[in-house]
Amino acid sequence: MIEITINNRRHNLDVEADTPLLWVIRDTLGLTGTKYGCGVGECGACTVHMNGEAVRSCTMEVSDAEGANVTTIEGLSEDSSHPVQQAWLELDVPQCGYCQSGQIMAAAALLKETPNPSDGDIEDAMTNICRCGTYNGIRTGIKTAAKIIAANKGS
Ligand code: FES
Ligand code: FES
Repeated sequence: MIEITINNRRHNLDVEADTPLLWVIRDTLGLTGTKYGCGVGECGACTVHMNGEAVRSCTMEVSDAEGANVTTIEGLSEDSSHPVQQAWLELDVPQCGYCQSGQIMAAAALLKETPNPSDGDIEDAMTNICRCGTYNGIRTGIKTAAKIIAANKGS
């Protein structure tokens, strides 16, 4: 049995220790907002947070997540009210949408660490691939989210 905490809920799961975390998230727990893209850690579609840091869940074994706090897109906010989600909605960032939960999780982790990121910070942190080429929208979205965060702090 593996005990993991996802979106603040503890689960005891009868899965092999080396099962990819992404499989457990999607297939065992049915949280399908996190996507499968490449399966080899390259595209970022499977990005989740582990203790607040962005990680690629396709290349992690579920046992690596034991004792950690894992957050998926479903747990980022209850009502799409996270500043990154607000900015994404305001700017209509997604096209097909497939990569976007991973992009949002990567952006949220970046802004937690660097609340007012430069273009260089964004370029360094945002290595997720978007086949629709929404990169400009993502960069503008991150800057808009940074403004929302700053405004929320000031209010
Ligand atoms: S599916 Fe995990 S990085 Fe592509
Ligand atoms: S919005 Fe289509 S892959 Fe990114």
